Amino acid sequence: MTKSQKSFSKLNRYICAGLVLAVLAVPAVAASLKSIMGSMGDNTTSAKAVLANFDGKAAEQVLRRYAADAEAADAMFANQGSAKEKDLHARFSKMAMIANTASQQAQDKGSFRKAFAAVATECKSCHATYK
Ligand code: HEC
Repeated sequence: MTKSQKSFSKLNRYICAGLVLAVLAVPAVAASLKSIMGSMGDNTTSAKAVLANFDGKAAEQVLRRYAADAEAADAMFANQGSAKEKDLHARFSKMAMIANTASQQAQDKGSFRKAFAAVATECKSCHATYK
């Protein structure tokens, strides 16, 4: 092999490694948004159970879990360029703020119902656009 052939084959190896990483990274992002969404779905089942049979501690846990899941989703879209990614970042960040603020206030059934409705409005609005 000539010197230029050698460096060409080295370059090829870098490109291949880059492509493999790109291909692996895309489904990883999609899979983890899906799993966060699965967690939000489960948490919504818990939220409905708390409304049916109110418990202040459980209400706080539900709100905290919404906040943590929204923050995790938000982090996935931070520092990304497309308009869609920026919008998802803003939406998850808003949802995290709503849930986080509510989780720090003492909950009774009425206030929890309101906080849950505010969170669910964010789910519906985002799904209407992107799901
Ligand atoms: C900022 C946007 C956004 C918000 C807020 C949001 N979602 Fe989603 N959700 C999505 C997108 C995008 C998908 C499709 C993901 C996919 O198929 O990869 C999705 C999918 C889902 C799914 C289906 C998951 C699956 O396995 O196919 C469920 C369940 C879900 N969301 C529940 C919720 C709940 C409950 C909330 C609110 C508590 C919520 N989501 C808030 C964007 C959002």
